[in-house]
Amino acid sequence: MAIEEKIKKLVEMRAEARLGGGEKRIDAQHAKGKLTARERIDLLLDEGSFEELDMFVTHRATDFGLDKTVFLGDGVVTGYGTVDGRLIYVFSQDFTVLGGSLSETNAKKICKVMDMAMKAGAPVIGLNDSGGARIQEGVLSLSGYADIFQRNIEASGVIPQLSAILGPCAGGAVYSPALTDFILMTEGISYMFVTGPKVTKTVTGEDITVENLGGPMIHASKSGVAHFVSESEQEAIATLRRIISYVPQNFMETTPLVECNDPIDRIDDVLNNIIPDNPNKPYNVLDIINTLVDNGEFEEVHKYYAKNIVVGFARFNGQSVGIVANQPNFLAGVLDIDASKKAARFVRFCDCFNIPLVTLVDVPGFLPGSTQEYGGIISNGAKLMFAYGEATVPKVTITLRKSYGGAHDVMSCKQLKGDFNYAWPSAEIAVMGAQGAIEVLDFKELSAIEDPEKRAEYVAEKEVEYREKFANPYQAAKYGFIDDVIEPRNTRFRIIRALAALATKRDKMPAKKHTNIPL
Ligand code: HXC
Repeated sequence: MAIEEKIKKLVEMRAEARLGGGEKRIDAQHAKGKLTARERIDLLLDEGSFEELDMFVTHRATDFGLDKTVFLGDGVVTGYGTVDGRLIYVFSQDFTVLGGSLSETNAKKICKVMDMAMKAGAPVIGLNDSGGARIQEGVLSLSGYADIFQRNIEASGVIPQLSAILGPCAGGAVYSPALTDFILMTEGISYMFVTGPKVTKTVTGEDITVENLGGPMIHASKSGVAHFVSESEQEAIATLRRIISYVPQNFMETTPLVECNDPIDRIDDVLNNIIPDNPNKPYNVLDIINTLVDNGEFEEVHKYYAKNIVVGFARFNGQSVGIVANQPNFLAGVLDIDASKKAARFVRFCDCFNIPLVTLVDVPGFLPGSTQEYGGIISNGAKLMFAYGEATVPKVTITLRKSYGGAHDVMSCKQLKGDFNYAWPSAEIAVMGAQGAIEVLDFKELSAIEDPEKRAEYVAEKEVEYREKFANPYQAAKYGFIDDVIEPRNTRFRIIRALAALATKRDKMPAKKHTNIPL
């Protein structure tokens, strides 16, 4: 065959591979309101940067007529490219080929890009849209999944791993995304569950829809499995690109600096009056975050889950940081099981990838009650304490208002190796709130007063005394647990200076195999 013929054949084969399962199935994919695997990659990567690998891979199965159902590429598009000029490895399951189901060879393609990403120290993004294990291939498919799981585990903490769920994701298949750092889901097209509605009905009798069992909002708000929910695939992919901008290539690097046009010494007078005089009055901590960070840009993670704590990425003077903030607007910013898990996972992610932590504290304590105790608030609260205590990245803590009891210790206090711990004059750092303290301290006196009016007068008087003595930042500052009490309007500048002073910070935990965080 002449070379022209050979090249013609190559071009034809490429064209065939690019069609995946063929025009009809592409149309069916579009009719479901979904993009194809390749359209997704085009949106994700910088234009023209995609280099595809393994386009000519086909499966080798013969059972159940599979020998007559062969597609070039075998149901997953893999390769590498760039996002804002930075190297990224990607795999995108192609639902038009046997429902994007995972075969032996399809898994090998995914494993190959994961191995390459590990060698190069570059993030991996998985775009998931699959009917799960390729049923015709039996245990070969299961072992393919396990090969991917093992790589997810080994890559954890080495390179960032992101998963977008853009179609079905059921059975054991959910565990690869679950082993990665962040999961994004899209309204209307994606769902995740270990066991679908039909089997659920047979086994437990529970009647439930796909959406209510494993839709995006369920996982974003109830289970916490999904960190981001988007209205469209375009939005999901734009979110992936933004997340990449906040993270480094791997654990040995830091996130590239972004040019900052927002003045670092910006004075925000609004912050001096943002905390209400009444300590029981809520306010929205997002208003404070948005005022402090570069250009008011805050990428909130887990927005719909455990709203009593806010976590997410932002920048100070162009440097990527992770922000953790109690949210007084929801359950008074109390720490409960879900909030502790949410923040602990985020703190650990930031620590893995050299992203400094800025913590804004306004916490009245842990949520009391049997539901919390039976659910294990002890070991779950300990997760957050553990995460902060073992984090060696720069840690800057600002106490805005309440910081009571055990929750004070948990929220990146000095003794958990907080580097710079500042407080606003409105801070109340104490063992407990005034009212609770008086009920304990003055129990005898209080029980002797029968008249409710006189009782209230007594409590009010004592509250003033207690607040003056303990509910302020100066007790903690007296012992050096707070490095400085700062004027709220200067906070941005003080954080930026603190981060600059910590740029060369080196710290490490004692040698060990690994820690044993209370899971
Ligand atoms: C082989 C599959 C497949 C699978 C879908 N297809 N899932 N082929 N193995 N797992 C094929 C279909 O036969 C069809 O082929 C094409 O993909 C599109 O599927 P449709 O059913 O037409 O699409 P849709 O109506 O959108 O339904 C999608 C679906 C459904 C809900 C995902 O296909 C489905 O229920 N599939 C089976 C899901 C499942 O039970 N998977 C195994 C889970 S257990 P044609 O040729 O007609 O286009 C598992 C274990 C993992 O994954 C363990 C890891 C440890």
